[in-house]
Amino acid sequence: MIRIIRTRDYDSLSRKAADIIASQIKVKPDSVLGLATGTSPMGIYDDLAQRYTSGTLDFARIRTVNLDEYVGLGATDEHSYRYFMNLHLFDRVNIDKNNTHIPDGLAADLDKEAYAYDELIQSLGGIDLQLLGIGRNGHIGFNEPADHFEKSTHVVDLARSTIEANSRLFDSSADVPKQAVTMGIGAIMQARSILLIASGRDKADIIKEAFCGNITPEVPASILQLHPDLTIVGDEDALSAMGAGDADLFCA
Ligand code: GLP
Repeated sequence: MIRIIRTRDYDSLSRKAADIIASQIKVKPDSVLGLATGTSPMGIYDDLAQRYTSGTLDFARIRTVNLDEYVGLGATDEHSYRYFMNLHLFDRVNIDKNNTHIPDGLAADLDKEAYAYDELIQSLGGIDLQLLGIGRNGHIGFNEPADHFEKSTHVVDLARSTIEANSRLFDSSADVPKQAVTMGIGAIMQARSILLIASGRDKADIIKEAFCGNITPEVPASILQLHPDLTIVGDEDALSAMGAGDADLFCA
């Protein structure tokens, strides 16, 4: 079932999504959270950090697995996703860093790293709640449009459109790494629940295509239509190409 939550703006989207994550943490204090990077989740992480500071949320037993990491960037590189996660969440709450996992983009043997990452997710008992953003080309994590869905964690050549989209966070598109290690569609789909967030008008078309169109590896997020517990929290702009309200009306 797809649950749609439409919010007024980015702040209310962040609050609503943080509510869902906070509930998960309260119900299961040792939850395995699948986490995402990108600009969309920043407000959620701010909100969660504030809840920790005000004493209403405890991360002491939480475990996390992130979706992806750029190949060639280490933890001290400010463009790496490890750096992002430390800055926006992990350094602001009482999580044990040993319980936070992100693929190692500096691993000498990246295929081995990818294999070990799936083993790790299995050893943690799978993901309780997976947070996802969505790329403008429909990617989730760094699962790029392709002719098949890649099940396992793998090394991926980033699409030109992704390099261009993500270049806004680098000095130039030439500085954006050309490859990443990403969790595959298998681990994402096996997450017990999924929370996808989308903000802004430039996500409107891809949201409609992914959730009202055909299920195809050309639009990787479209596979989420088959997930039994998917919540989409989108602001008015991101959902502006859709019908209103609940799942039935969503694609009208
Ligand atoms: C990156 C990440 C994705 C993220 C996407 C969208 O490519 N690998 O996980 O969903 O960007 O980012 P934004 O939220 O900045 O639009």
